[in-house]
Amino acid sequence: MQTSVIAIANQKGGVGKTTTAINLAACLAEKRKEVLLVDLDPQANATSGLGLEKEPGASLYRALFGEVQALDLIKPTCVKHLSIIPSEIDLAGAEVEIARGENYLHRLRNILSGVIASGRFHYIILDCSPSLGVLTMNVMAAAHSVIIPLQAEYYALEGLSVMTRLIQQLSQNGVNPGLQLEGIVMTMYDGRTNLSQQVVQEVIRHFGEKVYETLIPRNVRLSEAPSFGKPIVAYNPLCTGAVAYRQLAREFMARRNGGADEDEGDSVSGFKLKSPFEKSVQKEVPAFVSAPSPVPDPVQPVEEVSTHATA
Ligand SMILES: Nc1ncnc2c1ncn2[C@@H]1O[C@H](COP(=O)(O)OP(=O)(O)O)[C@@H](O)[C@H]1O
Ligand SMILES: [Mg+2]
Repeated sequence: MQTSVIAIANQKGGVGKTTTAINLAACLAEKRKEVLLVDLDPQANATSGLGLEKEPGASLYRALFGEVQALDLIKPTCVKHLSIIPSEIDLAGAEVEIARGENYLHRLRNILSGVIASGRFHYIILDCSPSLGVLTMNVMAAAHSVIIPLQAEYYALEGLSVMTRLIQQLSQNGVNPGLQLEGIVMTMYDGRTNLSQQVVQEVIRHFGEKVYETLIPRNVRLSEAPSFGKPIVAYNPLCTGAVAYRQLAREFMARRNGGADEDEGDSVSGFKLKSPFEKSVQKEVPAFVSAPSPVPDPVQPVEEVSTHATA
């Protein structure tokens, strides 16, 4: 199968990169896509958020230095069709060591080529640390496209131009010629505040259709799920956060499919349930932006494999 490599990046911390990486990955897996999530943040939040222990030697570190194949580091998760290459703190050391070596920008791309060649995955999703260090630059050199999560708050746009310029530069200077901005996803959206709505409108003014119509609401279940080691669709499949990430996965796939929705036949987005979130968004946000349908896709909640992955 053809593999797309997608980075979830923003040099700011706390904007919802890891939450988006885990939950977009899980929602794509729920749609029976084979997904590999690669945790490239030494803090390993995606690793623990999917219920894996931080285990010495399990991260991509050894693969980056040619000691093992990346394929040998892939582990199953509690979610069917979703695999992970976990992280742990040794990756912090890789930052320094890679920078000293040759071909330092393309290390990750080179080791992921084996995973791509295996044909096992539809999507490889790369969760970045909040920095523009060597590891993140390796991610930007390895990815086919980048999703930038933006928190719907006052300083959202600040620093965004750094990311968009970087994408442009890497694609123009030959480091990663095909690199694209896949989309911008607004996170922690609070439809009750004017601020969230204004920020979304501002981002749309700058980036137009690059902004996903799906808004990820602020939802306490999304912040609880990682401590249970589960993506939101396994932790609480019907909460607004789960509905939103399912809708994001669907929009993501539809856009890549030239607008066609693979689930169109059983779409339920025409239903209008009156959740407070939906009402407020419909009232206040331009037609371009739609709230996630409060009715979940008519697919089964994410399938969990019988044994919880231990490492
Ligand atoms: N939509 C949301 N609603 C509520 N809490 C969220 C949401 N998205 C992220 N969070 C919480 O905000 C914090 C930062 O999110 P995280 O995804 O770890 O950001 P990053 O990876 O960009 O640093 C985490 O505690 C996370 O659980
Ligand atoms: Mg993170």
